[in-house]
Amino acid sequence: MHSGLKAFLGGINTQAPLGNPKAILELGAGSGVWAFEMAQQFPEAQVTAVDISPVNETHKPANCKFQQVNLTKDWPFEPESFDVVHMRFLLVHMPNWPELAAKAASAVKPGGYLLLEDIDHHIYRENGPLPDEVSKFYDIYHSHMGKTNVDPDTGVKLKTFLDESKLFEEVQCLEFHAPMVPFKEDAKLNKVGEVMRISLTRAYASLHLRMGESGMTPEIIKGYADKLHDPNHWLYMPIFFTWARKHEKKAEA
Ligand SMILES: C[S@@+](CC[C@H](N)C(=O)[O-])C[C@H]1O[C@@H](n2cnc3c(N)ncnc32)[C@H](O)[C@@H]1O
Repeated sequence: MHSGLKAFLGGINTQAPLGNPKAILELGAGSGVWAFEMAQQFPEAQVTAVDISPVNETHKPANCKFQQVNLTKDWPFEPESFDVVHMRFLLVHMPNWPELAAKAASAVKPGGYLLLEDIDHHIYRENGPLPDEVSKFYDIYHSHMGKTNVDPDTGVKLKTFLDESKLFEEVQCLEFHAPMVPFKEDAKLNKVGEVMRISLTRAYASLHLRMGESGMTPEIIKGYADKLHDPNHWLYMPIFFTWARKHEKKAEA
């Protein structure tokens, strides 16, 4: 997923003009690859990679440290202590995401950057109505997520969150649509869609174990996954990469 997204962005890890950051925080780091690469790109920076699960530290640069934190319970970071705070594909899984996003915003130093990158947990179709199998899957998925206060429409709200916080300027949003089969002209975008489809089908394969009580079954999951692979159905998932610079503090009068 990471390499596909990076290739799509033109070989970079963010389009935000970060300057020369000294302290970088990556929340929900997953494999840690974004944090590791940022540590290599900014050797003078100290990068903190956070996740609820341990990362494989084999390739972790010396200027990157891993911290195991459950972000729904703990927030061990001082206000205004990082030049860059980054979350990718985390908020859409978190209960009450605006609360965590607000904590992340508070951890950014004046003049620093907050990078919020996420999907909407929705599939759309470019060449006709959505297949019933996909609608059925998401009806159950969304109703289950609603019970745990997880918002499937997180990505589309990120820019508004940054604007309305009034903490940031230069608020930017790059929206792109990851095609589940390669129906776009853009080979790099098709690649993003392919890795996204693989990641979605892997992540959802055992969803009936977690969402069985809401009506999710292996057959419904298979029907959904089959449609994602169907070249006749031009399905896509929206992705939103947002970034913004925190206001500098006004000098005391
Ligand atoms: C979909 S993955 C995204 C990983 C990475 N950011 C990326 O873009 O590839 C979500 C990550 O969030 C982590 N995560 C989920 N809940 C968490 C929590 N409560 N506290 C910290 N990390 C959490 C998961 O362990 C997982 O690594």
